Amino acid sequence: MGRLDNKVAIITGAASGMGLAAVQLFAKEGAKVVATDIAVEQLEKAISTLEGDIITFALDVSSEQQWKDVSEQAKVEFGKIDILINNAGVSVHKGLLDEDLEGWNRAINLNLTSVFLGMKTVIPYMQQNNKGSIVNCVSLAAIIGSADNGAAAYSAAKGGVRALSKHAAINYAKDNIRVNSIYPGAILTGAAQKYGVTSAEQLGNAFKNTIPLPPHAGEAIDIANGYLYLASDESKFVTGEELIIDGGWSTH
Ligand SMILES: NC(=O)c1ccc[n+]([C@@H]2O[C@H](COP(=O)([O-])OP(=O)(O)OC[C@H]3O[C@@H](n4cnc5c(N)ncnc54)[C@H](O)[C@@H]3O)[C@@H](O)[C@H]2O)c1
Repeated sequence: MGRLDNKVAIITGAASGMGLAAVQLFAKEGAKVVATDIAVEQLEKAISTLEGDIITFALDVSSEQQWKDVSEQAKVEFGKIDILINNAGVSVHKGLLDEDLEGWNRAINLNLTSVFLGMKTVIPYMQQNNKGSIVNCVSLAAIIGSADNGAAAYSAAKGGVRALSKHAAINYAKDNIRVNSIYPGAILTGAAQKYGVTSAEQLGNAFKNTIPLPPHAGEAIDIANGYLYLASDESKFVTGEELIIDGGWSTH
């Protein structure tokens, strides 16, 4: 028996990194997965090798219309939506004095407005079943300034997701909808891989003095396992919670 049998899950940013790891894990645990990303070709290619009940859709998380289309298609295809993993996000490494209004708006749009649109669109579907679980991907950058890698707008946007998650948790608990958030530290995913980093050990070399737990950086599956716990009924009495997965970075 799978930990997500009979559940329908929408996952954003599913073509790479944590989103892709979550698609694989959720499908293995019995979920019907709606895997979405703005990079459709990359998504199709990544998903083509995976086993399980997975369908793919183009979804730019900053488009309200696309959120509506994907949610409706998920309902038509699978009859309901149980789980929403707001995983997609884009880091922009500019400090407060270097950032301009256009860059600020873009970072807020992709990292915060996107989560607002996702929850606003999907919660009514969950209300139809009087049940649901939403997991929002935040970042350690929302909690400690030294973790933001010089990214002012990104940190602010992720801080907004942290607050919005609490808002949704308290307001939709009455509908048996749980809203939790995950705070990754340094995790080997798409961005680092583009720079030629191929293992958590290699990434961890840069974090030896920052992250106490070896190999001093995490892997996408470490976050996907957190998504799985918070998405599944194993966490049925958990809401408004903040799960930090950072190898101990935030302990000092
Ligand atoms: N990797 C880390 O160390 C780290 C740390 C803290 C938080 N995070 C957060 O983790 C989440 C996942 O990132 P990742 O590290 O797996 O990165 P990644 O680059 O491997 O994957 C991100 C995915 O999001 C997609 N995407 C980008 N813009 C999009 C849009 N407008 N609409 C839909 N999809 C879009 C990309 O195509 C990509 O497939 C993000 O929210 C990120 O902010 C990552």
